[in-house]
Amino acid sequence: MTSVKPLRQITLHQLKVFEAAARHCSFTRAAEELFLTQPTISMQVKQLTQAVGLPLFEQVGKRLYLTDAGRELYKTCREVFDQLSRFEMTIADMQGLKQGKLRLCVITTAKYVVPRLLAPFCQRYPGVDVALQVTNHEGVADRMTENLDDLYIVSQPPDHPEIELYAFIENPLVVIAPRNHPLVGQKQIPLQRLSEESFIMREPGSGTRKTVQELFDKNDIAIRVRLEIGSNEAIKQAIAGGMGISVLSLHSLTLEGTFSQVAILDVEKFPIARQWYVIYSAGKQLSTIARTFLEYLQTEGREIADATSLLKLLNATSGD
Ligand code: PGA
Repeated sequence: MTSVKPLRQITLHQLKVFEAAARHCSFTRAAEELFLTQPTISMQVKQLTQAVGLPLFEQVGKRLYLTDAGRELYKTCREVFDQLSRFEMTIADMQGLKQGKLRLCVITTAKYVVPRLLAPFCQRYPGVDVALQVTNHEGVADRMTENLDDLYIVSQPPDHPEIELYAFIENPLVVIAPRNHPLVGQKQIPLQRLSEESFIMREPGSGTRKTVQELFDKNDIAIRVRLEIGSNEAIKQAIAGGMGISVLSLHSLTLEGTFSQVAILDVEKFPIARQWYVIYSAGKQLSTIARTFLEYLQTEGREIADATSLLKLLNATSGD
């Protein structure tokens, strides 16, 4: 008869190590994240495996996979750490302090605004540490499914009903070309005209790409994608270098100023009006810090973000 082993000798540290290794499916990346060596990770996982009495990982070829027992333990780890961080917050609240960790995950374009909003918030609550992840829409959706963060900022909320959603600020998409491009300065360029240009496109999984593709598909326009890049900054560099034109969020030009090497084109159907939303899973119990930050975003945060006038920005970059 097989007996269930007592798991009392498992330590929180081992669970933390295992959680990181399981999330990345890699001991190397877990070691990097936790600032530990790879042999330490292997040792901790080995001890945990012995305590559990079943293998937690299996190696197929070069890849590491979780076993059924590993998957169960990973789920348990996430619940344990979630409960612990809630407990931490409760204690901090009891002590009348706002302290602990705020975990944010935002799409690539929100990184031009959100870090600026964090400074006044962190000054007010010096006990708050922030972890800010920046990724594309697909990355946000994956992290949300895994319940890895407190709040998310997106422009295309995942379409299932169990989401709390708060509109934040505008996030228009504009057509961007090199400053010396012949179309710069022309008014109401027909959308069709863009099919004659080389196009630089964001990577699959990007919300920007999805919106642009939908617009062109809807209008039966075939564009010539010459380059695909997973970064707004790299796209701006490629535009400036003459590789083609692209469609990006106006926010990605926030720091360009008058000396920018790129310009906004006045194309029909542009700018595409969109906005950012702050979202989280409806079932999620927000920590006090996350709730405070959400309120801050809807009030002062919005004011600070609005202070960078998009219109001013448009004039500065349109070559007037
Ligand atoms: P993306 O989102 O990084 O997924 O393209 C950016 C945006 O929608 O502004």
